[in-house]
Amino acid sequence: MATKEEFFEHIESGYATKGDFIVMGAAMLDGEAITDAHVKVPLKTLNRHGLIAGATGTGKTKTLQVLAENLSDKGIPVLLMDLKGDLSGIAQPSPGHPKIDERHAKIGLPFEAKAFPVEILSLSEQDGVKLRATVSEFGPVLLSRILDLTETQEGIVAVVFKYCDDNKLPLLDLKDFKKVLQYATGTGKAEFTKHYGRISTSSTGSILRKIIELEQQGADLFFGEKSFDVDDLTRVDENGKGYINILRLTDIQDRPKLFSTFMLSLLAEIYSTFPEQGDSDRPELILFIDEAHLIFNEASKALLDQIESIVKLIRSKGIGLYFVTQNPADVPNAVLSQLGLKVQHALRAFTARDRKAIKLTAENYPISEYYDTKEVLTSLGIGEALVSALDEKGRPTPLAATLLRAPMSRMDVLTDSELKSIIKRSDLVKKYGEVIDRESAYEILNEKIEKAEVEAEKEKAKPKTTSRRRSTSTRQNPVIKVLTSATFIRGVLGVLKKVMR
Ligand SMILES: Nc1ncnc2c1ncn2[C@@H]1O[C@H](COP(=O)(O)OP(=O)(O)O)[C@@H](O)[C@H]1O
Ligand SMILES: [Mg+2]
Repeated sequence: MATKEEFFEHIESGYATKGDFIVMGAAMLDGEAITDAHVKVPLKTLNRHGLIAGATGTGKTKTLQVLAENLSDKGIPVLLMDLKGDLSGIAQPSPGHPKIDERHAKIGLPFEAKAFPVEILSLSEQDGVKLRATVSEFGPVLLSRILDLTETQEGIVAVVFKYCDDNKLPLLDLKDFKKVLQYATGTGKAEFTKHYGRISTSSTGSILRKIIELEQQGADLFFGEKSFDVDDLTRVDENGKGYINILRLTDIQDRPKLFSTFMLSLLAEIYSTFPEQGDSDRPELILFIDEAHLIFNEASKALLDQIESIVKLIRSKGIGLYFVTQNPADVPNAVLSQLGLKVQHALRAFTARDRKAIKLTAENYPISEYYDTKEVLTSLGIGEALVSALDEKGRPTPLAATLLRAPMSRMDVLTDSELKSIIKRSDLVKKYGEVIDRESAYEILNEKIEKAEVEAEKEKAKPKTTSRRRSTSTRQNPVIKVLTSATFIRGVLGVLKKVMR
């Protein structure tokens, strides 16, 4: 059997770092923490993404909290996707507990109670900084992915965006987009056909149905102004602590499409806004997604491909993505294979399926002469986990069963009044709270259709000869040409008839 001294040396050299780092806890041998055998993650490799997994109640969310607050302490801002609403306590110091002191004595780390700067964000009606994006910003590619469109339908979406671009029609919300789509096969059919080719009503119909499905999940709250500037996620407070931005998603669990729309939009926006980092010593922003299976479970193949490629690319921008989930199998393999930090809490072996999952998980960890990984996986206590990270050279660190440090902030949630006071103090809540309803595609097209109807009425009233002369003299003006074309007038008459009925 390995001696404690050998093991200590193994951990100390395996986790040695030149640059700055975060201490996660102390390595354990035969179920006992080895004081001062610190398990450290270098800041340099935190942009290499990670996974926190384990059965319910084993300490995943607390591990997330520990990582988030230590990052903040180092001046690194964080975004937390809080699906159960249990992370707000980060804004208040821990009240402390003899058990926490005991834990920290074993680790060989002084315990300090601290609060951290917190910003509360919201995707829905809940209070907080409203996160929104316009349809224009979202773009045709992502919109097609999220709607799971066919190639033909995707082509139509691209044409709609092109049309709005050519005609300076702002696409702010889904109402705008639907309006243009209807216009393309209705009043504006001739105009569209001439400049962009024919668009079939059955295709626009299918796209409309998919948009309505998305709206039913609350996406109409997400699309619109004022659009969120991702730079606001990277704020540092007056004491040099990174802001911990908590996106409260308690009301979103039954709306996975809205969540994946938001995630995709956010990642794409971050990717296009943040500069390349090169070989940086520290990350720019770390994102944690609790209950990560929610984005993957309902995602289409196209959406998964998109997520996978963004996960790969975003690293070079200094962004680390951390998935928190019960079962690593919830996360696609292509994403799993890209993860640098793995924190595996205890797994429970109740069923044959559980035992299979444990075997699979164990096989995915580096072999260790100190542990029987399968055995350790089922015997870890609460707030203990198997950790494997990347050292500064990008090599896997030794596998370490770790007694994790306790959060410095409160493990319990904020009270309603504590939460309200954070929201009340926030400048960002004010910045993104103002309601803007500027003229967009919906209003502009409505006006255009109305004008066309008036024109059509006038045309109808005029004698035939005048009309012919007029149409030749206005050949240069395509809009008037369209407005006076037979198809257009027939269309308008059709609309009028319907309205009259
Ligand atoms: N690192 C830790 N230090 C101290 N207590 C912990 C730690 N991790 C977990 N615990 C205890 O275990 C409980 C459950 O942890 P939690 O993170 O909510 O589990 P999970 O997210 O896996 O369901 C916490 O309320 C806390 O009492
Ligand atoms: Mg949890």
